[in-house]
Amino acid sequence: MKKLVILAFALAIASIAFANPATIDLSKAFNVASPTKKAVQFPHALHQKNNQCTDCHMDAAGGKKLKAANGKELVIKEVKGTANPLHKDFCWPCHEKKQVKAGKSCTTCHK
Ligand code: HEC
Ligand code: HEC
Ligand code: HEC
Repeated sequence: MKKLVILAFALAIASIAFANPATIDLSKAFNVASPTKKAVQFPHALHQKNNQCTDCHMDAAGGKKLKAANGKELVIKEVKGTANPLHKDFCWPCHEKKQVKAGKSCTTCHK
């Protein structure tokens, strides 16, 4: 019984530490206060196929600290307007670099 309790506890911790969602609602993740566009449903699993975790995350386990195009930690104060840091410093530069088809078209991400 004691072992089972310990096992259940360990599993619960592991699932928190390694929660690696296949799709992430970025409007929720970044607390977009007054959205004017459809919330971005980020295809996380798809991005893991052709990119390294550390292309986007400061550390290989992933998590909330994202890596900006300049290699430093992405700083996001508020997500508002088209000149927001997710566009300029994160999503768009990589889509440009990797020549993603329609990678800067609004409806590729906001749909
Ligand atoms: C193309 C960019 C990209 C790649 C590649 C990527 N991720 Fe992510 N990942 C994100 C974004 C964006 C988030 C959402 C961050 C947030 O909620 O603040 C995220 C969230 C996560 C989270 C959840 C963080 C949390 O606490 O909610 C984990 C865990 C994670 N990623 C792990 C990984 C691992 C492991 C890999 C490599 C196998 C990986 N990611 C590859 C962009 C990426
Ligand atoms: C490190 C590089 C990189 C970053 C950063 C990145 N992407 Fe991508 N993205 C790609 C590549 C490469 C593809 C092409 C799909 C593939 O891998 O085959 C892609 C494709 C996509 C697609 C199209 C998927 C499909 O079904 O065709 C969407 C949507 C997308 N990205 C959203 C985002 C959003 C939103 C962000 C920022 C939060 C982001 N990406 C950041 C590399 C990146
Ligand atoms: C590569 C993915 C991607 C593309 C392409 C993209 N966006 Fe975004 N955009 C995001 C992400 C991620 C956010 C923050 C999360 C969210 O708002 O769902 C965002 C947020 C926004 C915001 C602020 C939040 C809001 O809803 O008001 C505006 C405005 C915006 N985008 C407009 C545009 C316009 C206009 C285009 C086309 C020129 C565009 N975006 C293309 C990923 C993208």
